[in-house]
Amino acid sequence: MDISDKLRELDRLNRRAEAGGGPDRLKRQHDAGKLAARERIRVLLDEGSFEELDRFVEHRCIDFNMADQKIPGDGVVTGYGRIDGRLVYVFAQDFTVFGGSLSESYAEKICKIMDLAMKMGAPVVGLNDSGGARIQEGVVSLAGYADIFLRNTIASGVIPQISAIMGPCAGGAVYSPAITDFILMVKDTSYMFVTGPDVIKTVTHEEVTMNDLGGAVTHNSTSGVAHFAAADDRECLATIRELLSFLPANNMEDPPVKPSNDPWDRSDSRLNTVVPTDPNQPYDIRDVIKPVVDDHYFFEVHKHYAKNIVVGFSRLDGHPVGIVANQPAFLAGTLDIAASLKGARFVRFCDAFNIPLITFEDVPGFLPGTAQEFGGIIKHGAKLLYAFAEATVPKITIITRKAYGGAYCVMSSKHIRTDLNYAYPTAEIAVMGPEGAVNILYRADLKGAEDPDAFRARKVEEFRDKFASPYIAARRGYIDEVIEPSTTRRKLIVGLRMLGNKRDVNPARKHGNIPL
Ligand code: HXC
Repeated sequence: MDISDKLRELDRLNRRAEAGGGPDRLKRQHDAGKLAARERIRVLLDEGSFEELDRFVEHRCIDFNMADQKIPGDGVVTGYGRIDGRLVYVFAQDFTVFGGSLSESYAEKICKIMDLAMKMGAPVVGLNDSGGARIQEGVVSLAGYADIFLRNTIASGVIPQISAIMGPCAGGAVYSPAITDFILMVKDTSYMFVTGPDVIKTVTHEEVTMNDLGGAVTHNSTSGVAHFAAADDRECLATIRELLSFLPANNMEDPPVKPSNDPWDRSDSRLNTVVPTDPNQPYDIRDVIKPVVDDHYFFEVHKHYAKNIVVGFSRLDGHPVGIVANQPAFLAGTLDIAASLKGARFVRFCDAFNIPLITFEDVPGFLPGTAQEFGGIIKHGAKLLYAFAEATVPKITIITRKAYGGAYCVMSSKHIRTDLNYAYPTAEIAVMGPEGAVNILYRADLKGAEDPDAFRARKVEEFRDKFASPYIAARRGYIDEVIEPSTTRRKLIVGLRMLGNKRDVNPARKHGNIPL
């Protein structure tokens, strides 16, 4: 055999690996509206940048006639490449090979790139499309999953981990994506659940379709398990590229700067009238966020879940920031269990990856009700408080209107180490809203009043004049400055520049005990 024979052999083996489960199964994949594993990687990464590893790895199973059924690569394509020129590691499960099911060697391939990603300090992107544990391999497959779960956990907060669900992801297999930082799902072709419709029917007699149980819409809006819903594979992969553009490669790096032509000191007089003076009139907090950030661009995360809080990424002066904002247009911006969980997870992500936090606050308090109390709003609300309090990244808060009660403390108040706290002149910082305060303080007077409504209205006005303003807090230095809304962008950028070298640490400890 001379070198040309050897090259021919290599070419044949490469082509065999690239064929995956063969043309019929590939056609089925395409007919289902899904791209194949290698196609997905090509769309995800910068052109020509993918370097595949382990394409000749095979499974070692000898049961169920598996010794005769070997496909090089064994159902997962792994390697590394570039997104916007930056290194990322990627694995793509190949549903055309044994249904993308996970074997011992398949798990080893994923672990290998995860270990490399940790050593090199670069993100891991997992493209999931799998029938779960390779049934023929039994417990060895389960061990493979556990090896991955361990790595997901150890890598958490060290490198960004992103999971796209682009087909089935069921049973214990869901727990790898669940530990990662962001989950994206493709509408109509992906689903995630711990137990499927058939098992549910047997156990609880509930009837539910696969899509209603674990489709993209369910997990983006009802369970909050997923952060993004994409119309198709291409949109999903483009969203991953964009998400990574805001993130550093690891926890030791600063996030990437993307210079903008948007003037750093641009003021916007329309901001002066966005927040209604009537405290009960709703407005969309995004109408405050967008005019402030570079190029009016806000990349919203977890958009369809807990709409009473808005989270996402933008840039200020070219630097990525994480934005957390109460949303008065939904449930009056109250904090409930879902909003607390959504906010807390986002805050902790930003803190882990050196992304400054900008908080826009307009919150009348925590949502009252037995559902909330029985559901544990005490422990869940505490997560948001804990997350803001432990965060050591630069933190700036702007109170646009209401900052009532415990929610005032929670939403990145001065008292929990926020660096700069601003308020608009429309801000109302108080223990509770004027109506609630009057009902408690004047209970007896109200009972005895000739015209209780007129009495209440007078007292509410008195209370509002005296307490519902930013000035009492400003006199104590809890608010650093009451600002004209039109100057918000300039204030934030000057503040972030000042905070550029911020150093703040938490005490040495094994880890804190966030109320889970
Ligand atoms: C081995 C599998 C497989 C599996 C699918 N295949 N799942 N092979 N192990 N888990 C194979 C099929 O035999 C078939 O092979 C090919 O993949 C495509 O499967 P189809 O059933 O034809 O595809 P489709 O109709 O689209 O249905 C997809 C599916 C279904 C819903 C995922 O295949 C299915 O229900 N699979 C089993 C799912 C499951 O119970 N997995 C174990 C879960 S427990 P051919 O040769 O015909 O193409 C688990 C635990 C993890 O995962 C624990 C971690 C701690």
